[in-house]
Amino acid sequence: MPMFIETCTAPTNIAVIKYWGKDEARGLNTPINSSASVTLDQDDLCAMTSIAASSDFVADRLWLNGKEEDTAGNGTHAKRLRKCLAEMRGLARDRVDASGAVVCTATELASYKVHVVSRNTFPTAAGLASSAAGYACLVHTLAKLYNVEEAYEGQLSTIARQGSGSACRSLYGGFVKWVKGRKPDATDSMAVCVADQAHWPELRAVILVINAGKKETPSTEGMQTSVETSPLLAFRAESVVEPRLAAMEAAYRARDFEAFGKLTMQDSNQFHATCLDTYPPIFYLNDVSRQAIRLCHAFNEHKGRILAAYTFDAGPNAVIYCEAKDRDELLAFMLHFFPPPRSGVESYTNKPALLKAAA
Ligand code: PMV
Repeated sequence: MPMFIETCTAPTNIAVIKYWGKDEARGLNTPINSSASVTLDQDDLCAMTSIAASSDFVADRLWLNGKEEDTAGNGTHAKRLRKCLAEMRGLARDRVDASGAVVCTATELASYKVHVVSRNTFPTAAGLASSAAGYACLVHTLAKLYNVEEAYEGQLSTIARQGSGSACRSLYGGFVKWVKGRKPDATDSMAVCVADQAHWPELRAVILVINAGKKETPSTEGMQTSVETSPLLAFRAESVVEPRLAAMEAAYRARDFEAFGKLTMQDSNQFHATCLDTYPPIFYLNDVSRQAIRLCHAFNEHKGRILAAYTFDAGPNAVIYCEAKDRDELLAFMLHFFPPPRSGVESYTNKPALLKAAA
């Protein structure tokens, strides 16, 4: 019986203007504010997914990091996987061979059950955007499997968005904006590449893995409580994000690190302030995270300008943006204060560096 298999990788992305809060009225995983991120294009920060489709399979199955997940129940992954699968099956086209002959019709292909095996090369659910890479990879791999062509640019990102909001931004490299959109069917709530990676090749990200464990409050649950209880979040979405996004886009386009860095740190701080403003409060940062923040400011003060910019997603781990010329000094500075455990330095490459700062 025929079987078709595709394997792809997708990178993670770290937001510099954060998305926090869903527009529940639409129920389509649309955000209350637009957001922007930088895609971290590196082998040790990605998701790798293989998907097989066969007429022999009797159920859709999913293995995440070696462990089988329930795909039939009401769990988060189950519902999201089903949603993405249904959307992608609806876009399936005939599979053809090199000569153009049809090897499997779209209808047949879409009727086959799939087995999905996905692995992250970095800590999962620790606030390092693992679900962003994971769902972007799922949608991208399904697109290959089903021979999908986008009817309009960004269409696949509208499907990845329904897996995990931030996943839509991982379908593009460089500086990517997730436009919140206005249409009732949310087909315009999609990712847009503002400037690709080649635009600012000197940009780097140093990652301090402060705690690789699973976060206490999953982002979906956290943002829902924030939407319901935080007046600061409502103010941020209404009055802060749009002008800040415009300033951020201009800074990125101009490769102005000082402006980019300041806005990045301010936005991370405001996001965590909304978490504190949530009732009951959500604490993603811990004492080591706050120490990393202080050190980053100390580094910048010592240098007389902003050369390093931290940002934290829904977890304690710091992502510190800098430029290639400053990376080694920044790393040496951080390692001085956070000497890694013996096996702590996970990688130190030419691109964004990953290091363990403290356990
Ligand atoms: O995509 P989600 O539902 O995991 O939410 C991500 C939220 C943040 O990472 C905190 C911010 C962002 O824009 O990525």
